[in-house]
Amino acid sequence: MNTAHEHWGSRLGFILATAGSAVGLGNIWKFPYITGENGGAAFIIIYLGIVFTIGLSAMLAEITIGRIAQTDAIHAFRKIGKPGWSFVGVMGVITAVIILSFYSVVAGWCIAYVVKSAGGAFSGMDAEAIAGAFGTFVSSPLSPIVYHGIFAALTMAVVVAGVGGGIEKTSKVLMPLLFVMLIALAVRSVTLPGASKGLEFFLAPDFSAISAGTVMAALGQAFFSLSLGSAALLTYGSYVDKKTNLGKSVVQITFLDTLVAILAGLAILPAVFAFGMDPAAGPGLTFVTLPTVFNAMPGGYLFAIVFFVLLTIAALTSSISLLETVVSFFNNIGLSRRNATVGSGLLVFLLGIPSSLSVGIWSDIHFIKGQGFLDSASWMTDKLLLPVGGLLICVFTGWIIAPVAAKEVLGDGEPGILTRAWFIILRFVAPVAILLIILSGLEIIKF
Ligand code: PFF
Repeated sequence: MNTAHEHWGSRLGFILATAGSAVGLGNIWKFPYITGENGGAAFIIIYLGIVFTIGLSAMLAEITIGRIAQTDAIHAFRKIGKPGWSFVGVMGVITAVIILSFYSVVAGWCIAYVVKSAGGAFSGMDAEAIAGAFGTFVSSPLSPIVYHGIFAALTMAVVVAGVGGGIEKTSKVLMPLLFVMLIALAVRSVTLPGASKGLEFFLAPDFSAISAGTVMAALGQAFFSLSLGSAALLTYGSYVDKKTNLGKSVVQITFLDTLVAILAGLAILPAVFAFGMDPAAGPGLTFVTLPTVFNAMPGGYLFAIVFFVLLTIAALTSSISLLETVVSFFNNIGLSRRNATVGSGLLVFLLGIPSSLSVGIWSDIHFIKGQGFLDSASWMTDKLLLPVGGLLICVFTGWIIAPVAAKEVLGDGEPGILTRAWFIILRFVAPVAILLIILSGLEIIKF
């Protein structure tokens, strides 16, 4: 039943759990290929600029709303005295359900790749054969759904154990493990003969590669990577005690998320260059290019397993934040945590099935812009729901509850230059920038 609102056991637990939400497929799967497609180092500089201004400010806003309210995303706005804004929470929870449904399908592919790599399924294959094997696997009707089910069950197993006993404990074990594995992979990659071309691509900026499209890609990626706009951060913020310094915590979380993205780029791109593969291979970079690279690399068998375990861990600490966002609401309307977790977990599992089939036997069924179910769900959250959610969070904090938000962040301290900068970003910079992402994502304006 609806018991007292739970809390993190420690500040470290909060930081690692929230960094766990942020660090995910977005950092390790998407960031390297988006960097590859957008010209390398110049993209990274723009990305960093956006993350540490707009991204950080929006994250602080969302977590602050959660801590003020001390309840789930849907009840939060009523509790703050602005019930008219509750639709933002409703939209956030719906967004979390949609993201989780396809996220779990892709995470299922990662588990399958752990099994396949360990069983030597790709050994001796060239890029073309691996592309074929990937295509056969994802388009088969049953086995990707089984792996999606396994991943959804893992997510439920963590969430059912609660905030402190499940999410926090798991993050405290998995996040340090993730770092160690990623550093090992990055060291392996940058020490390969021929890695220097990849390092140069990654670290030496070519500003002629930058266009307005690059900036939009960086903004969209920043949102997804920082878990902004889907109420997951609001929910995690509601478990933070009143003593925790929110500003400092958000800087640390943003730093960790960015560090992992950069390390993932260092683990992947130099190796891709070393073996003469294409850095702009798009989403296939992880599932086709990398297994080819591992085949050619000394010690590749082991590094392949480590990489796909790492990817699965990163996905899991993100998916638990999405499921918790939904569970926290159902828990507050009277369902036990167990029933709320099983119910929302099953919903997400069922919604993921059409996503999985849309890459195979249902590939002829199109929804948005001629895309299948999975791509449509991803398009809708990336281009619309997350940015709109983020925009509303910034406007709400910057314009509607500014004095309360300032007090929540500052305590008894006096507002200084950083607080003023925060509000300028929330009121003006972020709304304009996010509106541009939405309009360009919907192709209403073209750059
Ligand atoms: N930040 C996660 C990633 O980079 O993979 C994805 C994500 C998790 C988005 C949680 C939104 C969210 F609420």
